[in-house]
Amino acid sequence: MTTSVSVPSYGADIYTDQALLEPYEHYRTLRELGPAVWLEQHGAFAVSRYADVRAVLLDSDTFRSANGIALNEPANQAILGCTLASDGELHAHLRKVVAHRLTPRSLRPMRDLVTERADELVSELVARGSFDAVADLARALPLSIVPDFIGWPQEGREHLLEWAGANFDSFGPMNARAERAMPKCGEMAAFGAELVRTGNVLPGSLGAGVLEARDRGEVTTEQCMMLMLDYLAPSLDTTISAVGSAIWLFAQHPEQWDRVRADPGLVPNAVNEVVRYESPIRAFGRLAETDTEIGGVAIPAGSRVLVIYASANRDERKFERADEFDVTRRDAVQQLGFGFGEHGCAGQALARMETESLLTALARSVTRFRLAGPSERALNNLIRAFGTVPVTVETEA
Ligand code: HEM
Repeated sequence: MTTSVSVPSYGADIYTDQALLEPYEHYRTLRELGPAVWLEQHGAFAVSRYADVRAVLLDSDTFRSANGIALNEPANQAILGCTLASDGELHAHLRKVVAHRLTPRSLRPMRDLVTERADELVSELVARGSFDAVADLARALPLSIVPDFIGWPQEGREHLLEWAGANFDSFGPMNARAERAMPKCGEMAAFGAELVRTGNVLPGSLGAGVLEARDRGEVTTEQCMMLMLDYLAPSLDTTISAVGSAIWLFAQHPEQWDRVRADPGLVPNAVNEVVRYESPIRAFGRLAETDTEIGGVAIPAGSRVLVIYASANRDERKFERADEFDVTRRDAVQQLGFGFGEHGCAGQALARMETESLLTALARSVTRFRLAGPSERALNNLIRAFGTVPVTVETEA
């Protein structure tokens, strides 16, 4: 039997510019208010504590992704039936068609290419002495790897960042950012549909595999289009966010960079710590399938639930000194920034490979990152990222 406790509520809009810039005090308040808190401005229950976020993510029978991912109806309708926004057997099937291409084992042949590109990029930037850690570093590697991997043709690549950013903005509440994003999401969907219609994808790529699955009758043409965008849309901004945040954090915490340099074996843990500390994806939603409860708070069927990964990752109930950035933290691996359970990030092995390769290459030559001007955030409803982080680097030589 579950005991129902009263439902705390929170009146602030957690998607204003100011809240997106400084979200962590809002998250702390939400965690203190209770396991599930009614967000008056957004018509959803916020789940912000680590244990509850993990429990909700694990219970995908009760907390459904179809019609649940975004905080607004038009976005939920637009993505209905893609991997991210499907449940049960359909989700398992869609994931099976593609995700096997992204396991650490399948990506092994990519490792040399990613390492080589990361090494080349880093030596060029280090030789320059100063650069923008977002435009020149964080964006450059994923853009040189991911579109080829997915099989996106050369034409249309100039829109990818704009479309991917719009896709994430559209998942927030229907604020001005989401409204502006909608037409761009339409352009991206139309481009994806055209790719499927013409079959204009690079041979041997993930996209080509999706088309072959359609030809074998495993997925419909409509699902094919969804699958192309499923993997393209989250593959850039997320990794770009992690790399940009990493450099910004290491510039502020030189002693943490010294630790990585002293023991490059720490790089994978450092990536987990960056994703814990500055979670690239703030939150995704779910829809309660039945009457249920979260930590004793009654959640009626049909309620929208906002699962805040970025808050779970700063929960002092779970992580000691949660607001400290510490690359040696033993439990960094338990961060939830890549999600968890059935919908856990399908592309995380690739994201980790890219981020680890860049940090490893940098650790070989850079002794210090120094901020060379004001860093600016790129405001997005879902992605927490910098738009620019100008740095100068010092090297041993
Ligand atoms: C640092 C980089 C990344 C972060 C932090 C991240 C984060 C996430 C999170 C939090 C989810 C969970 C969604 C949910 O709970 O509903 C997710 C799902 C997903 N991610 Fe990532 N992601 C990253 C990189 C990538 C990359 C590079 C790709 C593709 C190449 C990718 C593809 C996907 C896909 C397809 C899903 C949906 C999985 C499903 O619903 O079964 N992600 N990601």
